[in-house]
Amino acid sequence: MTDKQVWLVTGAGRGLGIDIAKAALAAGHAVVATARKAKSITAALGEHDDLLAAALDVTDPAAAEAAVQAAVERFGHLDVLVNNAGSFQAGFFEEMTPDAFRSQIESTLFGPVNVTRAVLPQMRAQRSGLVVTVSSTAGIAADGDFLTAYAASKFGVEGFMEALATEVAPFGIRTMSVEPGFFRTQLLTPESTNFAEPSIDDYADRTKATIEGWQSMNGKQGGDPAKLARALVQLAALASPPVRFAAGADAVGVVENKAKVLLDQAEAYRELSSSLAHDDA
Ligand SMILES: NC(=O)c1ccc[n+]([C@@H]2O[C@H](COP(=O)([O-])OP(=O)(O)OC[C@H]3O[C@@H](n4cnc5c(N)ncnc54)[C@H](OP(=O)(O)O)[C@@H]3O)[C@@H](O)[C@H]2O)c1
Repeated sequence: MTDKQVWLVTGAGRGLGIDIAKAALAAGHAVVATARKAKSITAALGEHDDLLAAALDVTDPAAAEAAVQAAVERFGHLDVLVNNAGSFQAGFFEEMTPDAFRSQIESTLFGPVNVTRAVLPQMRAQRSGLVVTVSSTAGIAADGDFLTAYAASKFGVEGFMEALATEVAPFGIRTMSVEPGFFRTQLLTPESTNFAEPSIDDYADRTKATIEGWQSMNGKQGGDPAKLARALVQLAALASPPVRFAAGADAVGVVENKAKVLLDQAEAYRELSSSLAHDDA
């Protein structure tokens, strides 16, 4: 049993997950780095006494349980889960196949659900733990074209994390949602982004322009994933990590704007909204 803090990170073979695993190791923690292809972990992170590489497709609940079991067998406990794995099904809702939409929900909503379900018995037995889920600014405001499936999954995961927080707080377990703005990872490469096949003339011009827009952003995103990874390590060390963390100046702007929009929406029909009770209530 190690006396180090033990992290389990999903999607640690590419992108932000590699940086999170590196930052946790650099901070002196033990890391269970997981990826669909376990080989990609060793290629990215090398060998390390405090590193366990495990295969995990987050859409597979049995694989999630096996990864948690391997983590506890190797290190004796599990302190921080980072639900990081993700992909992007991009396209206008009407042009996206039902399978593509569903696969987004499977990976970025049910993925975190599966892995969180697998870690909670261990964290509850320990009476401690932190579940971090990398959401998105698209989990706060679904602003722009091509985001219906992605935003549906990220709004879903925001609700999941927020509701879970109160259920598990009595056991010393906390949750933290992280909303990155644009970070320079591989998310916008063809390995992670799948564009819906154009099929409806009414959308054709916007489809072309939107695909060009997303593709032109690839490699130019402002956010540095290594800095975000170090920030997460810093936040996880706090006695009370934040329930929500806006990652990037752009993300702070999105959260602030959404807060104003929600206040305006509550105010706009205050009288009508407030007039819906039974007369005797
Ligand atoms: N980069 C941004 O600007 C940004 C902004 C907001 C939110 N995010 C979120 O940040 C998280 C990390 O993404 P990233 O930016 O690092 O993207 P990335 O570079 O494309 O990496 C995505 C990672 O997720 C893994 N993955 C995808 N589906 C998986 C599955 N079913 N099971 C296990 N692993 C899976 C990929 O592994 P494979 O190699 O096996 O495909 C890859 O390691 C995601 O949740 C994403 O939605 C990113």
